[in-house]
Amino acid sequence: MAARFTPAFRAAAGVRVAARRQVVPAFRRGFANEAPKSGSSNGLLIGGLAAAAAAAGGAYYFLATDATPKERLMELETVGKEAGEVAKATLHMKKGKDEYQKVYNKIADMLEVDDYDDGSLGPVFIRLAWHSSGTYNKEDNSGGSNYATMRFKPESEHGANNGLKIAREHLEKVKQEFPWISYGDLWTLAGVCAVQEAQGPKVPWRPGRVDGYDHHCTPDGRLPDGAKAQDHLRDIFYRMGFNDQEIVALSGAHAMGRCHTDRSGFDGPWTFSPTTFTNDYFKLLFDEKWSWRKWNGPAQFTDSKTKSLMMLPSDMSLTKDKEFKKHAKAYANDADLFFKDFANVFNKLIELGVPTAQFQGDAYTLKTVDEQSS
Ligand code: HEM
Repeated sequence: MAARFTPAFRAAAGVRVAARRQVVPAFRRGFANEAPKSGSSNGLLIGGLAAAAAAAGGAYYFLATDATPKERLMELETVGKEAGEVAKATLHMKKGKDEYQKVYNKIADMLEVDDYDDGSLGPVFIRLAWHSSGTYNKEDNSGGSNYATMRFKPESEHGANNGLKIAREHLEKVKQEFPWISYGDLWTLAGVCAVQEAQGPKVPWRPGRVDGYDHHCTPDGRLPDGAKAQDHLRDIFYRMGFNDQEIVALSGAHAMGRCHTDRSGFDGPWTFSPTTFTNDYFKLLFDEKWSWRKWNGPAQFTDSKTKSLMMLPSDMSLTKDKEFKKHAKAYANDADLFFKDFANVFNKLIELGVPTAQFQGDAYTLKTVDEQSS
């Protein structure tokens, strides 16, 4: 086995030697948000994994030659560990669709919880998958779902991630039963499972993410702020590589779940059925009359009729901005179109930051619990 580790290790070390005294931009080719390259032989895969290890090793500051022996040792240990993670991932590629279906089923099994929110962990699992992916920056390929860096401080304590500990802790039980799965694969699979089990669209999903280290954590401020509007949404989502239509489709995930005063400060659900995946978010945006809620909390909208629903200022911008509105209207009028576009864009979201070489070929479409029992 050691012989197999060596090329990746050397590649990683090589990149870093060349990169002394500067911050190394992460590896720039072959990331999942780029067009896939043709050819998928095992050789290419292993080569790509070595490159991925190089990217892992090269994505942070490399110590200069005047580093102390202890610092150099730590540095080498880090490169070795990262190459090891990638090599481990290669081994997991022997796991087939059936193994991942078992993990999916275990997650599906734990979704319903009577005394939690609206009775389902689905929404908070979707938010975990999204926040662990939405840190991506296309300029330097940093962030994204590859390293599951929300396990570490400071990212676990970023304000935007308040409340996601609940999701991480629940999923830890799945990790105990299937220790071979990476956290990035587990969290994104949980998002897919939550969408599908809530009667949402089938979302193709591929395994291959590797566990990273705390030095891969991204800076605070990469996720959107609900108090802001269209210009901010474009700044944030264009940075990840999304266009206007994709921003609107992704926002439709707010059909599910709710805001919590002890997490974001905002309060309440967007729809009357927060545990079912529908296009109601778009319908309600246009069908209801929305007014500012009179309360002591942050500025948010409430539906004038029942005063039981909410919209964030960022949500309302989808009805105000001309380009956003066009897509939001289309999704309000056509649930099938929304489902199709959401499946595509959610799949794109959860693959951000993952070198394509780490994936093991075609995506799996996993079966819902209902489909398996019928
Ligand atoms: C467009 C920019 C977005 C903003 C400003 C935003 C903001 C928020 C806020 C403030 C919350 C409430 C958190 C809490 O208090 O628990 C929330 C919850 C949620 N968000 Fe977003 N979000 C955005 C995009 C997305 C995207 C792209 C997805 C998924 C594709 C998503 C999925 C969810 C879900 C499912 C919840 C409910 C979580 C729960 O019930 O625990 N959001 N979002």
